[in-house]
Amino acid sequence: MRILSGIQPSGSLHLGNYFGMMKKMIEYQENEDLFCFIANYHAMTSVADGKVLARGTLEAAANFLALGMDPERSTFWVQSDLPEVQELTWALSNFTPMGLLERCHSYKDKVAKGIAANHGLFAYPVLMTADILLFQSDRVPVGKDQKQHVEVARDIAIKFNNHYGEIFTIPEAEIDDEVATVPGVDGQKMSKSYGNTIDLFQEEKALRKQIMRIVTDSTPVEEPKDPDRCNVFQIYRLFLDKEQQQALRRRYEAGGMGYGEVKQELFETVRDFFAPFTQRRQELLADLDGLRAILARGAEKAREAGAPTLRKVRKKTGLAY
Ligand code: ADP
Ligand code: TRP
Repeated sequence: MRILSGIQPSGSLHLGNYFGMMKKMIEYQENEDLFCFIANYHAMTSVADGKVLARGTLEAAANFLALGMDPERSTFWVQSDLPEVQELTWALSNFTPMGLLERCHSYKDKVAKGIAANHGLFAYPVLMTADILLFQSDRVPVGKDQKQHVEVARDIAIKFNNHYGEIFTIPEAEIDDEVATVPGVDGQKMSKSYGNTIDLFQEEKALRKQIMRIVTDSTPVEEPKDPDRCNVFQIYRLFLDKEQQQALRRRYEAGGMGYGEVKQELFETVRDFFAPFTQRRQELLADLDGLRAILARGAEKAREAGAPTLRKVRKKTGLAY
């Protein structure tokens, strides 16, 4: 099964990104044919500073590699290293009704928020369609917000196939309802835009500060506490197996454990869990040419995988003459 997903390079990573998405992608490598890329063309719709985009791209790649993306087992590359995807975008644009894009919630929401409506923002789902179709992807794991874009990809693929013959696999979105939303320090969904994150790669002191900010109620130390209503527990459990969760639950219910104590333990757990990844990330970012070489090999693999599809498209459309 070919699984493909793209991730925009978007600054620092938090526990929600890791447990909600990256961990799952890294696990797919075990049994699936995983295609995963850094969507830096897409990021241009929100980042107009070249230095920021370039650095963000390198960091996003280093994050994934440090967390366990294996470029030998999967195909891992940076979107702009394959400008071919832009050629496919153009071919697909001619089979993309305006109304299909006008109906996209993501576009409408951004415009409603006051973001200037430009062509990049409007055509975003066509580029995403090209990402998916170029590699004949079967399944596309995405968050709920991207589901409609995968439906757009299906519509365009069907239209193109109806016109030129069976060229593209019709992809399917995979929305994982199992992955619970990771709460932030205030109990709302953890998100950069809410300023309630616990970040993966940062100094110990800053990490401790974020964890100490987790909002708890005012139950006194000696009294029993309800783990299901505690933000610390909801985050801590992500790091624990079933038995460890039960044990922690019992400590909550027995009373005598203060929130400060459990926060300190959570801090140590998060720090120790990510320490080896932090180390690896620093090594990758200390050798940017080495990192670029890994990405160049990834792009070659992706190029080879996409070439037959592009060849067919060029032939059928008459671009190859
Ligand atoms: P943010 O909300 O911080 O801007 P993004 O929208 O960049 O995060 O999310 C990137 C990926 O991480 C998406 O695939 C999304 O599903 C996942 N993700 C982000 N926040 C959470 C969360 N709190 N719980 C679960 N998954 C999350
Ligand atoms: N638009 C996606 C997001 O913001 C990223 C993305 C780009 C993507 N191309 C893709 C996801 C292709 C899946 C498949 O999250």
